[in-house]
Amino acid sequence: MAKRILHDEYFRKAKQEGYVARSAYKLLQIQQAKSVIRKGDRVLDLGCAPGAWLQVSSPLVGPRGRVIGLDLQDVRHPMPDNVRTFVGDVFEYPPEDLVEAAGRGFGTVLSDMAPKTTGFNEHELSVRLCDRILETLPTLLRHNGVLVMKVFEGAEYPGLLKRCQRHFGKVKGFKPKASRDVSREMYVIAHYYRHPDRRDDDTPKPRDADA
Ligand SMILES: C[S@@+](CC[C@H](N)C(=O)[O-])C[C@H]1O[C@@H](n2cnc3c(N)ncnc32)[C@H](O)[C@@H]1O
Repeated sequence: MAKRILHDEYFRKAKQEGYVARSAYKLLQIQQAKSVIRKGDRVLDLGCAPGAWLQVSSPLVGPRGRVIGLDLQDVRHPMPDNVRTFVGDVFEYPPEDLVEAAGRGFGTVLSDMAPKTTGFNEHELSVRLCDRILETLPTLLRHNGVLVMKVFEGAEYPGLLKRCQRHFGKVKGFKPKASRDVSREMYVIAHYYRHPDRRDDDTPKPRDADA
């Protein structure tokens, strides 16, 4: 039983296709359904280790784009040239340093962060991670940018969606097929960030969020 769950279709596919983890297919499915990353983008990947989302994002942004990752753990797997990773805690790491590494504000912020513990408080801790991201968005994300963040569903989920709606033109919950049925994980997908210091001259074109 445990073997069947651990070594599922996506696990085997990841091995065959050279992805460091099966989570690669969650981002590929999010991208296919919701178009969250564009060529030339600066992408921030929070909770990036072991590195599958970095591997997916790198070719999507292409050689003119950049992917910056942050995680409590080091990314050991070799990454393409347009990827840089840092070790740190999202609650402490200065968001300005991540923007500096990217050369400018991010067009897309991704988070697949999961709290260290599983069990009764997994939901509350994951909402705290999401709220930390929302708090740092004015530094990290450009006007009209996109946010993708994992949350474990529970009582505080509707409130989190409402907080996101205050800052984004369009907010949806999405569960990619590669996300295990038994897991309470969901992805909040938010398009059209309304930056508090909006400047029209640095506004990227909105992408098609209605796919
Ligand atoms: C499910 S894994 C991410 C997998 C990754 N998306 C991939 O495809 O390889 C969750 C990651 O979140 C990281 N994480 C959890 N809390 C964090 C925090 N406070 N700051 C930074 N990273 C955190 C963990 O260290 C872990 O590596």
